[in-house]
Amino acid sequence: MQSFSELLRKQGKAIGLVPTMGFLHEGHLSLVRDARHACDIVVVSIFVNPTQFGPNEDLSRYPRDIEGDRKKCGSSGVDILFMPADKEMYPEKPTVFVTVEGISDILEGEIRPGHFRGVATVVAKLLHIVKPNKAFFGQKDFQQCVVIKRMVKGLNMDVDIIVRPTVREPDGLAMSSRNSYLKADERHAAAVLYRALFAARDLYTAGAKEPEKLKQKMRAVILAEQGVGIDYVEVADPETLAPLDTARDNMILLVAARLGKTRLIDNLLIP
Ligand code: PAJ
Repeated sequence: MQSFSELLRKQGKAIGLVPTMGFLHEGHLSLVRDARHACDIVVVSIFVNPTQFGPNEDLSRYPRDIEGDRKKCGSSGVDILFMPADKEMYPEKPTVFVTVEGISDILEGEIRPGHFRGVATVVAKLLHIVKPNKAFFGQKDFQQCVVIKRMVKGLNMDVDIIVRPTVREPDGLAMSSRNSYLKADERHAAAVLYRALFAARDLYTAGAKEPEKLKQKMRAVILAEQGVGIDYVEVADPETLAPLDTARDNMILLVAARLGKTRLIDNLLIP
């Protein structure tokens, strides 16, 4: 892959990379289409990265469908499907990591210690291997996008990070490989994250300026749904993810919740 990317770059081809953990859905494929538009060669990587999973997380049961993914890539105009084995990415117990300090320890990072260190490390490796001109990420994982942009800036990596909007199911649920874990009643309840975000946005549009009011609204909407536990709701600055004192245009609403054993996250950028 490395020598092939070098060759393509020498030929003046623009490479677009869409890094994924597979079990591809429309959210992933929308990134592929954007890459197809913007670049000459589209590379999709599928690698379920062990270093970003905590010891009690879902690494071993993470959903996989290599044949389905292969077909979806084939019909979406992907040029190269890069699927390294665990041993190729980590031939020995990893001792070299990329840490983006501060931002990696709040919100998702507080609940999943080490998660963003694993994400930053594997994305750095993928960028070095595939050498893309542009790499495409989904806003669905907003904090991940902030971490990766910081890493690229902080390490002077020569790649454009492109962030694209969240693709949703008809009821508003953000598409996610993890949605496949949801039982029928949980799947029905899961749309409450989306409703909570939009209820808070409506309250803000109607004039509410205290972040606490917006957070209360999100909590109330979520807790009205049976069997949904809140990990956090936050009203934050989109660049730093620091909590805001006053709600304003250019803010991000973030939620994380648990439905049974499944954790879901979502967010909404205002305006
Ligand atoms: P994964 O969860 O497979 O997601 C791969 C990419 O698809 C990420 O950039 C993610 O934000 C984007 N994505 C997921 N759901 C989306 C949706 N509903 N709409 C738009 N984009 C969506 O995120 C990861 O994998 C990993 O952490 C990875 C970056 C590959 C590093 O291992």
